[in-house]
Amino acid sequence: MSDNHLRLGVNIDHVATVRNARGGAYPDPLRAAKLAEEAGADGITAHLREDRRHISDADIDGLMEVLSVPLNFEMAATPEMQKIALRHKPHAVCIVPEKREERTTEGGLEVAREENKLAHFIAPLREAGCRVSIFIAADQRQIEAAHRIGAEVIELHTGAYCDAHAEGRMDEAVRELESLREMSAFAHSLGLEVHAGHGLTYDTVQPIAAFPEVRELNIGHFLIGESIFRGLTPAIVEMRRLMDEARA
Ligand code: PXP
Repeated sequence: MSDNHLRLGVNIDHVATVRNARGGAYPDPLRAAKLAEEAGADGITAHLREDRRHISDADIDGLMEVLSVPLNFEMAATPEMQKIALRHKPHAVCIVPEKREERTTEGGLEVAREENKLAHFIAPLREAGCRVSIFIAADQRQIEAAHRIGAEVIELHTGAYCDAHAEGRMDEAVRELESLREMSAFAHSLGLEVHAGHGLTYDTVQPIAAFPEVRELNIGHFLIGESIFRGLTPAIVEMRRLMDEARA
């Protein structure tokens, strides 16, 4: 695979959201993960939330067993989650902020204020061989702090850009995009690997995919929604095509 290849991580959380709306076993997130793999996903992302509102512990057990591509395990910085991650040792662990009352991960992690605590939190994960990524806003202070605590990867939160775009606030979308561009380059200059995600759609993916420093996008909600209309495989294939086109 060329150096310029932009990886696509498919987040399957919301297959589990639909399953959990009724209880029972359908639709099965593991089946979605295998299909995503076959459709060209370079990795699978799953967020085990403290309240288990979508992905369950059994889903993580299953993913670790069946996946041929790497699992990116998203989790809050809690002792419970650290223990689970150390048991499974997934390829990558992405530390995200988590509030019980939020509908989705609303902002980036506050690394700068929690530097010491987070440095201690991620050390055993790194020692266990997990690539540790920190989900943060496009903010120089947070990027510098992520670098200081020893993270290898940062994932930039694209939610503000995507929200502004979706709501037609185009000047703001352009400003958000500009800070994402600058901060991707800044993080890369520190030696961090740069990922991005949250809220990306067919309409918003290409400007981000075109940033040469970005190595991976993690996309979930839109793809799972789109799969209702065109099927999961074609939904992923189209995202892959748009990413490759932007990258070319
Ligand atoms: N990246 C991270 C760190 C996330 O927490 C999420 C949402 O779980 C995503 C990417 C994917 O966001 P979306 O589901 O909006 O595509």
